[in-house]
Amino acid sequence: MTTPEVDNARLWSSLMTLSEVGRYTDERTGLLGVNRLALTDADKAGRDLVKTWFEQAGLTVRVDRIGNVYARRAGRDDSLAPVMAGSHIDSVPTGGAFDGALGVLAALEAVRSLNDAGAKTLRPIEIAFFTDEEGARFGTDMLGSAVAVGRITLQEAYSLCDETGTSVQQELSRIGYLGAAEERISPPHAYLECHVEQGPILEAAGLDLGLVTGVQAISWQQLEIHGKSAHAGTTPMDLRKDAGLVASMINLRMHEMATSGNYGQHMRATMGRVSPVPNRVNIVPGKVVCTVDLRNPDDASMARAEADLANYFDELQQSHGVHIERRQTARTDSVTFDAKVVAQVGQQMQALGYRHEPLQSGAGHDAQEMASLCATAMIFVPGQYEGISHNPREYSTPEACARGANVLLRVMRNLADEA
Ligand code: HGY
Ligand code: MN
Ligand code: MN
Repeated sequence: MTTPEVDNARLWSSLMTLSEVGRYTDERTGLLGVNRLALTDADKAGRDLVKTWFEQAGLTVRVDRIGNVYARRAGRDDSLAPVMAGSHIDSVPTGGAFDGALGVLAALEAVRSLNDAGAKTLRPIEIAFFTDEEGARFGTDMLGSAVAVGRITLQEAYSLCDETGTSVQQELSRIGYLGAAEERISPPHAYLECHVEQGPILEAAGLDLGLVTGVQAISWQQLEIHGKSAHAGTTPMDLRKDAGLVASMINLRMHEMATSGNYGQHMRATMGRVSPVPNRVNIVPGKVVCTVDLRNPDDASMARAEADLANYFDELQQSHGVHIERRQTARTDSVTFDAKVVAQVGQQMQALGYRHEPLQSGAGHDAQEMASLCATAMIFVPGQYEGISHNPREYSTPEACARGANVLLRVMRNLADEA
């Protein structure tokens, strides 16, 4: 039986409509961006909209205790494990229309296309969107999917707080997404995720899609550097305990480590958040809260980088008279996706005549959590402007999104007809 094609215009319309939720205008560039920070009113509005679309597509929707949403399409034999596809609705505060949304809406478009064709699969199909994939508000990425697979407990997740001290549990309840369904899921038959690459590789190589082989290791820390506030004019340089200086030294050391080649050729290091206190022109900062984001495709090199950085923190405590409190806020080893399902994705890319290459994901995804539970694979869609992401300039074309959705539809369909 031939598999239907997706409706490009319908997919694009859903993507653009959802991108209006949490819309903001970037003051520097005038670009229209998306801000649907996890569990804010904008995230709720996005969730509500997509949930309505799920219901309009005839899906049975359930919300679990960590706010993950699953939309189920019955199969001929509902006793069989479902094929699952999805991603996330939440965004970073300076996001674009595609990160996360494409995976959820491409899965919805696949179901809509199967509905249009009256195609019934053997297995049920479930579309998922997971809570707080970004980690940009509560500090831990892939939160909902990590709870779904048991890497993070529900209580640990509930107790996470944002900078105002508001907890995940409070916000889930406030936006009406503290559901009743059990948060730990039984292993699906397979999990698929379509996502923008968020990097320059596919565009530079002129490829239609990326065949994702896995995800690199991720290590996040939040540091509290405690020094001593002092007068900027009267305090001699050798009497200072300058937390601001130490934060800058750590940032510089991270950059030197990542560009040295001593931890592999692809280590990446970012200090995305730096908050000095009291943050005034004439006061030596007494305290700095800052973050460390390390990425590495090689687990051993990642471990070595973490250990070397920890030693450097100890040195700075001695040399600059500060105390550096460290909290590991996210830590995942590299993940390799299931070879069989990756091969199925590659076959469909081939069959559809889409130019593609294998590549490892530089960004974290819910798929890396699901890979611990079931056979998992991802489809990357190229982004324009060097694949920029976590920036309102994030952009992909209707054709590129439809290519990703067509491959997703075919692989979902084939997997859902496997006994
Ligand atoms: O940080 C990441 O890699 C993902 O965007 N959460
Ligand atoms: Mn994402
Ligand atoms: Mn992201």
